[in-house]
Amino acid sequence: MTELKQFKIFYRAIRDVSKVVHSKTGTDLNEVLKLMVSNTTQGLNGKGAALCIFNKETASFTIRASYGIDEKYLALEPLAGKRFFSWPNKEYTPHIITDISNAPRVKYPKEAWDIGIRMMLDVPLMFDNLLFGFLRTYFEEKKVFSDDELDFMNAVTEQCACAINHDSKIKFHILQYNKLATKIDRLSSLGRMAAGIAHEINNPLTGILLYSSNLFKKASPDGPFKEGLEIIMQETQRCKVTIQGLLDFSREKKPEKVDANLNTVIEKSLALMDNEFLIKRIQIIKNLDPAIVNFQLDPNQIEQVLINLLLNAVHAIDGKGTIGIRSRMDTENNTVLIEIQDNGYGIPQDKLQKIFEPFYTTKSDGTGLGLSVSYGIIRNHQGTVNVLSEPGIGTLIRIELPIMDDTNEDNTKG
Ligand SMILES: Nc1ncnc2c1ncn2[C@@H]1O[C@H](COP(=O)(O)OP(=O)(O)OP(=O)(O)O)[C@@H](O)[C@H]1O
Ligand SMILES: [Mg+2]
Repeated sequence: MTELKQFKIFYRAIRDVSKVVHSKTGTDLNEVLKLMVSNTTQGLNGKGAALCIFNKETASFTIRASYGIDEKYLALEPLAGKRFFSWPNKEYTPHIITDISNAPRVKYPKEAWDIGIRMMLDVPLMFDNLLFGFLRTYFEEKKVFSDDELDFMNAVTEQCACAINHDSKIKFHILQYNKLATKIDRLSSLGRMAAGIAHEINNPLTGILLYSSNLFKKASPDGPFKEGLEIIMQETQRCKVTIQGLLDFSREKKPEKVDANLNTVIEKSLALMDNEFLIKRIQIIKNLDPAIVNFQLDPNQIEQVLINLLLNAVHAIDGKGTIGIRSRMDTENNTVLIEIQDNGYGIPQDKLQKIFEPFYTTKSDGTGLGLSVSYGIIRNHQGTVNVLSEPGIGTLIRIELPIMDDTNEDNTKG
């Protein structure tokens, strides 16, 4: 084969693989792997080739694509065992097998010989310094490889490794996305159902509360009904609070934005909680940035968020402790940051994803709606909420709100 022809074959192999590396869907990976094995076989003037990838489930290398080699011989694979998991040289350079009868990496030398194989070349497939497969080319006669040929093989397998990695990342993201979409779908139908039930229950609860409090007023103080009626009233009231929270959550009230000062909203929320802090002996460390400019927000809704977060912090501290509250103007990103930090019991890592789900609570008297309502409010302000937490050390909730003027904001989102 002329050098030019060989160059063309290698060039095509690299170009085909690069296409997948840069494609958005990566759907034609199998096609490219097939091209890889055929093009490299032709380029090296071999008998055939097989691309072996490590399979976590079977803990062996299985063939993902092959060319020119008898199916019966290939069916003898998968290639398992220590000899395949470690590369014969530390540099992970191509490994040439000249004596197939005595090579530890050749599992079936007799069968290989019978189909005319006399030599093999293994080139590793690496990603992030990890071996995850190799490309094996088979030859019918012994040959000496030029440096150019080995360089080309390295370049092709590098591209191939990228393509496989790229494809598996895309598949992983698609899987994650589908899972999330199903979850959102489930949550929204659950939300609609819950809102319907809440609506239906709200009216009879009002009736129960009204009649029980009337009876309570009429019941004689020493009679047998007073205590029972009081319990009915308390429990009904508790149900109403839950139902109201659920209604607020499902309605996701549209924010009524006005030009307001965030620090003033923070101060007001702290003032409302003052008594609570005093009783629980909680120290507040306040650090408000005076540089924060007025911007469009719904002060009542933001206050509701802050109170929810402060109540959670107080509960997490459960006694003497500290709550830090901080605001900061980020002029570079045109956002403001609010942080609420407590040194309470913290949230285990595996529960961090759950705390914003409606009805997730670890408290005997909690509704589990505080954070999901707060999240909805911040999202309607086009903001974000992030949580950092360490069990036994504490929790930091960070809210980021964009500063928008009313000309470019979408006030219709509800
Ligand atoms: N600062 C915090 N520290 C530790 N855990 C927290 C903190 N904030 C929230 N959590 C966890 O997240 C859960 C959900 O919080 P969320 O505010 O939504 O509901 P809740 O506080 O349980 O009930 P409600 O707000 O209706 O009283 C809590 O039950 C708690 O387990
Ligand atoms: Mg709460």
